[in-house]
Parts: sequence; C-alpha cells; structure tokens
Amino acid sequence: MDDQAYDPAFAQAVLDGLAATPKRLSSQYFYDAAGDRLFQQIMASPEYYLTDCERASLQEHSDAMAVALSPGGPFELLELGAGDGSKIGFLLDALHRREAEFIYRPLDISAHVLQLLAERVRPGRPWLDVQPLAVNYMDWLAQPRRPGIRRVFAFMGSNLGNFSEAVAIAFLAALRGAMTAGDFLLVGLDLKKDPAIIRAAYNDSAGITAAFNLNLLERINRELAADFDIARFQHCPSYDPKSGAARSFLASCCDQQVYLAALDRRFHFAAGERMQMEISQKYDAALIDRITQAAGFAVAHRYYDERRWFTNQLWVPAGG
Ligand code: AVJ
Repeated sequence: MDDQAYDPAFAQAVLDGLAATPKRLSSQYFYDAAGDRLFQQIMASPEYYLTDCERASLQEHSDAMAVALSPGGPFELLELGAGDGSKIGFLLDALHRREAEFIYRPLDISAHVLQLLAERVRPGRPWLDVQPLAVNYMDWLAQPRRPGIRRVFAFMGSNLGNFSEAVAIAFLAALRGAMTAGDFLLVGLDLKKDPAIIRAAYNDSAGITAAFNLNLLERINRELAADFDIARFQHCPSYDPKSGAARSFLASCCDQQVYLAALDRRFHFAAGERMQMEISQKYDAALIDRITQAAGFAVAHRYYDERRWFTNQLWVPAGG
C-alpha cells in the first residue's frame, strides 16, 4: 500500500487515543461518507428524539426569534456545521416575513455537505442570499469582521454536547471573542430528562448507533490499514443522570491485539476493556448558567419544544 496516503492529523489522533489510558477515539471522526449516512438513519430512528424536538422548537418559535434578531440592521446568519436545512428553514422564512436584511452563510468543512444544503434551502426561496463557505470555522473566526454587518451565529443540534465542559467553554469563549454588541448566538441544547428516554436514544433497537460507533473502527481499518475485527467490539452506552453525560464506549469482547500497518503500531486490548468514543452532554439551567458565564455570554431568550426536552436559546455577549 501507499505509505503516507493517510491524513496525518487523523493518524495522530488515533495514535494518541489508542496509546492513552483509558483508550479513547474522537467522535469528530465519525462523519466519513458511511458515518454521514448512519447519522441520517439515527435522526430518522424512533428513539432519537433530538432532531424532532429541535424542529418543533424552531417551527413554533421562529417568529419570536426573528423579532429578537431583527433590530440593529443587516446581519450574516453564520451557521456553524451545516445541518440538512430543514430546521434552519423555519428561521429563514420567519426572518423573511419580518423583512430582515440578512445573508445566510452556512460554514462547514465539507463542500459536499454545503452543496446538498444549498440545494435544499434554495427552492421556493428566491429572496434568499445563500453564501456557503467550505472552511474550518475556528480558522475562519480569525478573519476581520465585515464592517456594518452584525453576526448571528447558529450552533444547533446539541453539537456543543460533543465537547467536554472545558472544551465547550473554550470554544464558546473563542466565538465570544469574534462577537460584539448587537450580535447573537443561537444554540440548540438537549436537556436532562427521564434517563430511560436518553438511554434509548443512544442505544436504538435497530443497532444504528452501534454501527455508527463501530464505523470509526472500519474507517481506521481502511485509512490506516488496521485490522480491527468489529465483531470483537461491543457498543456500550452509558448515561449519568447527575452529571447529564451520555457516553458511548466500545468494549473489547476478548483479549486481543490490533495492528495499524500504516503506522506499524500494535495495541493490546484486555477482555472487557472499554474505549471511550463520544460524549453527548445533556443540559439543565444550572449547567447552562455556568457555561455561559464562564464563556462571557448572557442568555437573552430561551425557547423550548412542548415537552421541554430540548431548548433553543439566543445568547448575547455579556459585559464589554
Ligand atoms: C450530532 C453530536 C448532536 O451527540 O446526539 C447521535 C451525534 N451520536 N447518536 C449526539 C450522535 C449518537 C449527536 N450530535
């Protein structure tokens, strides 16, 4: 095989994670082509309530959001990590009804995902100015802002929940640094609720979430010429109602070795050893207060779906 045919950042992250105690892999690498498809299937599964809740919240409250966002002149709506366009569509339409002057700028690493998104949001919206940007949005934030144009960031889908609290605060503080008075951050956060509902969402009966986790091992096999036997790893999700952390692990079913040929490295797994894959944090008011305060935001508006399982909120820069 071609040596060096792999992504060095991916290889380094995998090496660091497999060398760590306990072992861990990062869910940021779940989303290759197969992972994107599996995530679509998760969103369509009966157990995964997050997407439906956020859609309902946006559908019900987009007019109120548009009222809150409109004063202060033109803005760019900067969506970090493009969704499939179905949820943001409610807000785009509400902003249009209020005659808000705005550009919709979805930012995503994947040009392909942005292309699909643009194709979904354009039909029936001849008035919409969509300007997708295929960038790493953290790098993009370092750019000087466009004078006279407010910034409204959107970071939805409870994507913040994939960060540890410390990383979430650092990320939000960096966003805060790119904002000024008159700007907003629209977030979507999944809330604490009956633990059984959360556990089911991350352990669906069709096994899609298990496949979503195991797919990262297949990706490592393909991209780093590894020999993970996915039949020898088992999806083990957990949820701690006190902290609100939903975590997923892959547990080794037996004592085994895995060889990464591209890196000429071998790793040992003990029987029952768990490798941490993903955290999906669930929030409550106290945690949201702590995070917003630490990152320099004030909560301006809180919106919920009917069951109060999910919240969309408008945050503004606090202080000066
Ligand atoms: C897209 C990060 C919000 O954590 O709920 C779904 C990803 N993982 N099922 C989440 C995911 C397992 C999802 N986010």
